[in-house]
Amino acid sequence: MEKTIRIAIDGPVGAGKSTVARAVAQKLSIVYVDTGAMYRAVALYAKQSGISWQNEREVVGLLDKINLKLGQPEGDQRDGRTLTVLLNGEDVSWEIRKPDMGEGASIVSQYKLVREKLVDLQRKLAKGKSVIMEGRDIGTRVLPEAELKIYMDASVVERAKRKVIQMEERGNKVTYKEAKTDVETRDQREKNRKIDPLRPAEDSFRLDTSHLSVEQVVDRIVEKVRQIT
Ligand code: DC
Repeated sequence: MEKTIRIAIDGPVGAGKSTVARAVAQKLSIVYVDTGAMYRAVALYAKQSGISWQNEREVVGLLDKINLKLGQPEGDQRDGRTLTVLLNGEDVSWEIRKPDMGEGASIVSQYKLVREKLVDLQRKLAKGKSVIMEGRDIGTRVLPEAELKIYMDASVVERAKRKVIQMEERGNKVTYKEAKTDVETRDQREKNRKIDPLRPAEDSFRLDTSHLSVEQVVDRIVEKVRQIT
């Protein structure tokens, strides 16, 4: 693509953002940035340091000690992971995908200084490049000037079902009931938090993926990109 294009994808847990964003990135040969992975890494570091996710002061106190690197899996790293995440040089790509890390990330992402550090990093990653970035506040906070903003959603039932399958694929078993509670708790927290709550950007294109296949969603987004490039 000649023109630089930034695509912001937001939406609640289980809407299908990661799968779709990765596929679109591949189709368009642009960089994919999974911002949730960064909040997960902060949650993991707090856990490794013996700090409660609920303790804002102590979690924030860790920020200066956190060095994060995200990259496409290369060589031996191609073990089914979607992304390589290095936390202070340690490969935590699988560790951050464990079920409790989603909950931990959802809690620590409420803190102002955590968000400031990661938003800054996310903007740096997008600078001067064509990217597709997914998260909760990409269209509203991280890249409000993005050329294309998509808000993906799906019913709670559908999202909980997808979580069960995704966890199973990674060898982590969760029941449908547990997945539904997780989806509802995270929705509630992320839509109602004070700083950068989850909401569609005014100029976003809304996509309900409940009854759409991954291919259908990818095609719709690629079509939108073609219209503006
Ligand atoms: O997309 P995910 O499930 O990997 O994200 C983990 C948590 O991180 C999510 O529950 C909320 C938080 N998050 C956020 O607050 N802002 C983002 N841009 C991305 C994720």
